[in-house]
Order: sequence, then C-alpha cells, then structure tokens
Amino acid sequence: MKKQEVIICRNLSEDLSQAISNNPHDKLFLLVDEHTSTLCKPLIDNLPCMQGAIEIKIGAEDVHKTLETLAYVWKSLSDQGATRHSLMINLGGGMVTDLGGFAASTFKRGISYINIPTTLLAMVDASVGGKTGINFNGLKNEIGVFSPAESVLIDAEFLKSLDSANLLSGYAEMLKHGLISTTAHWAELLNFDMNRIDYKALQALVAQSVQIKENIVEQDPFEKGIRKALNLGHTVGHAFESLALETNRPVLHGYAVAWGMVCELYFSHLKVGFPKDKLRQTIQFIKEHYGVMTFDCKQYDRLYEFMTHDKKNNAGIINFTLLGEIGDIRINQSATKEEIFEMLDFYREAMGC
Ligand code: GLY
Repeated sequence: MKKQEVIICRNLSEDLSQAISNNPHDKLFLLVDEHTSTLCKPLIDNLPCMQGAIEIKIGAEDVHKTLETLAYVWKSLSDQGATRHSLMINLGGGMVTDLGGFAASTFKRGISYINIPTTLLAMVDASVGGKTGINFNGLKNEIGVFSPAESVLIDAEFLKSLDSANLLSGYAEMLKHGLISTTAHWAELLNFDMNRIDYKALQALVAQSVQIKENIVEQDPFEKGIRKALNLGHTVGHAFESLALETNRPVLHGYAVAWGMVCELYFSHLKVGFPKDKLRQTIQFIKEHYGVMTFDCKQYDRLYEFMTHDKKNNAGIINFTLLGEIGDIRINQSATKEEIFEMLDFYREAMGC
C-alpha cells in the first residue's frame, strides 16, 4: 500500500493549495455532510484552490454510513461528469472520510482523494492509515477496502467547533497511541488540560499521535501483525459500544474504547505484567474524564457474546492486544470466559459501579 502524505497544517490555504496542485485533475469534488457543510466548509470555501469545486452533501453521523449514501455519492460523481482523473476532497469526521474514501477508491476503479478530517477522532485515527468503508447488514465497517488518501491535512482550527464529548472521544485514541508508544508521550497526554484547551499544544500532540499510527501502519498496512496494536481497548470497547446501543443508551466510540482500555490494561497487568502504578494512573484519568458505563453481572453473558463476534477473532478465539509495559506490545493474546468475567468484576469495582 502506498504511503499517504500527512500534512500538519501551518497555513490551511497554502497547504491545501499545494496538495491539490500535487494531484493534477480535470474536476474537483468536495464531499461534506450536513454539519461540515455549515461548520467547516466556510474555512476552505473561498480559497482560490477551491474555485469550481462541485459539492456533494450527505447526511451526518454513522446512521448514514450506508450503501444508499455510497450509491448517492457514486451517482453524484457520475451525473456531474467525474472521470478517472477527477479529485475528491473529503471534509468531515470519520464517517465522511471512510465513506468518501471508499466511494473515491471504487469509482471508475479508483480516483484520487484528499482527506481533511474535522473531528479529533478522524484526525488521529479514521482518516489516516487507508481503511475505508461502510456499514452493512447491521455490521460496522463490514464492506470496504484498504486505500490511502493522497494527502491528509490536519488543522486543529476545525476542532474549535467540536463539543467536548467529541474531543474526548478522539482523545481516547490518542491515549491509546500513548500507551503503545512511550512513557513520555503517555505522561504528556495524562497531564494535558482538556478543560482549558490550548489548541496549538493540542495540534502538536495530534502530530505525535498521527506519527505513532503512521509508523505502525507503515510496518503492517494490512493488519497481519503489529497493526493489531491499534486494537488496544477495542475488543472490550466494541462490546461496550454494542451493549450501549442495544440498551438504547449509545455512547461515543472513544468513550467505549477508554472503558475498554481499563479492562484490557487490567488483563495486561494480570497476564503480562503491565505495571500497577501505570494501570492506576490511567484508570484515574479515564474515570475523571469519561465517567463510567454501568452494567450488572446479568449482562456479562451478553458482553461475552459480543466479544465472541468481534471480527478481530481467529478460529473462534477472542483476540486481545495487551501491553507488558508502555510500548511493549503483545498481540494475539486470549482469555477464558472466567477470566473475562473476572475482568468485568474488576472494571465495575475500579470504576465504582
Ligand atoms: N483504527 C485502527 C486502524 O486503523 O487500524
């Protein structure tokens, strides 16, 4: 898989203009959703490099990450004369960059695209690393391809219109990148003041975070080995997310991942010796910032069932990524049902629920 160019913007106008001119094209398309059309498009709309861009607007949020929306984007491209030499810019959160990346990668067997992520989650995770796709048949990201953007432009200016829950959701993936990299970066993340955000400092942390993901994706673009490090917190996190959805109290992805990390760091401590003090400090940070998802022991079986259906599993064995230390990544770890139930007991006790 080719490497995409990640640009940490100093001047969005100049950086975007450069990225567009690096990709000669006949027509320029701009994919936005209902939110980014009003909140984010004004930041790029009047730039000379965007003159003549044809806008395609789709519904916002995960509920629109569907085959129908994808077909609408394909049809819009087709009706408005897109060719194999056209260029698409995806301006939005992970839904827009995932679906837009998939639409571009499949239209006429693939046209070039640029991502401009507008949420923290998309900046540090979804828009980088080449995973594109849509939800299908009730399953998240069931259909898609690995196909990197030509460029990803990251500008913390967009984060100023983001609410604090969505900022924290993205920050959980940054915390994950801290845990799988170095103690210094992890400590920096725990000490950053999320209540009074210094956006310049946040952009610097985002740059480090993206670099960590980039390094891993470069070693293993198709997730055969070390890319599974990026799944830390996600085996339990996805189960929490599914349970929350099923019980009509949906949670943001990053919140579920944060709570999932509490569980998987506990396993890390138990099984491969992750230090107790770092476990305690990380749990403290998560409790303070993300609160707690409550459930009782009658729901353990359902959570276990969700874990058994995770697409990361192999031969029916639930797959975990654990840590022996910060940065000491142990992929392909497993656990018994009893251990998983004990882990859920630990979570409830540690989080006070
Ligand atoms: N979101 C994890 C990955 O890109 O592999």
